[in-house]
Amino acid sequence: HTKPVIFSGMQPSSDSLHLGNYIGALSQWTQMQDSFDAFFCVVNLHAITVPQDPKDLAERTRATAAQYIAAGIDPEKSTLFVQSHVPAHAELAWVLNTLTGFGEASRMTQFKDKSQRQGADAASVGLFTYPMLMASDILLYQADTVPVGEDQRQHVELTRDLAMRFNGRFGETFTVPEAQIQKGTAKIYDLQDPSSKMSKSAESEAGLIKVLDDPAVTRKKIMRAVTDADGEIRYDRELKPGVSNLLTIYSVLTGRMVESIEREFAGRGYGDLKKSLAEVVEETFTPVRDRTNELLSDPAELDRLLAKAADRANEVASTTLARVYDAMGI
Ligand code: ADP
Ligand code: NA
Repeated sequence: HTKPVIFSGMQPSSDSLHLGNYIGALSQWTQMQDSFDAFFCVVNLHAITVPQDPKDLAERTRATAAQYIAAGIDPEKSTLFVQSHVPAHAELAWVLNTLTGFGEASRMTQFKDKSQRQGADAASVGLFTYPMLMASDILLYQADTVPVGEDQRQHVELTRDLAMRFNGRFGETFTVPEAQIQKGTAKIYDLQDPSSKMSKSAESEAGLIKVLDDPAVTRKKIMRAVTDADGEIRYDRELKPGVSNLLTIYSVLTGRMVESIEREFAGRGYGDLKKSLAEVVEETFTPVRDRTNELLSDPAELDRLLAKAADRANEVASTTLARVYDAMGI
């Protein structure tokens, strides 16, 4: 490899990406694809750690890939592929399961959170071994860097431990990856509840801006965003979380400083800011939505792009797996 390798995965667990995903993940990744050898993986094997409807899962897998391409992931520059198309992910995950202590895996806080939510008996063993599948995703491509949110820090730490453990026991095989925690990335909050982050898991979609929604729906949601009573357009995350969230979104999508937006709207009402923001969001999302629909209208072509990427991914992953098996005497 001439360029450093990054790996990042996204679950096909929603019909549309939301504004938080777009700002926090997608737009970062499109900027990274020139300086890195990037592997972007639609992680459908991770998705089935919780129950999935088969038809939805198939559709969402394609739709997720299509939205990434539509938003700027260039299949000529980056390897954008589907996890289950590369059998080595499940195979290496098994090997890593055998190297992970039961107590070590039990300390993963995401499993504790998610299994508590589902009820301990309802949670699958797959949910428990999720971190080892994630370690497999990363290590197969000898990734140097893993851009993730703070919530994934512990899983990347486990990945590093497993890589070092394997290298120590069986000889140098894996690159030990670094987590790149996206701290500088703006965090986007729910428009109806600006104290929680915008998330597909929100109880109501009233404050969730979705990339593939009709612009009229999005405009309505923005016009109804929660603000406050003092009427001043000013950034103050503590006292004015709703208005501050709107300003952040405006700033990120236009590339303008918050101060300059505050100045533009000085003395004007929240309605003006919202109307203008709705236009900015529409301008950003319309081409992405159009391109997504275009890609989804020709599934054969989309499948061809994904198959081509899977070929490249398979080449790299099967080379790593062969070295692993060789080193272990398998
Ligand atoms: P969700 O919270 O909707 O389930 P995910 O956990 O699947 O989203 O996150 C996918 C990616 O999008 C991650 O890189 C995450 O950091 C980013 N992301 C998700 N929600 C937000 C948000 N509200 N603001 C900024 N980035 C976000
Ligand atoms: Na999530």
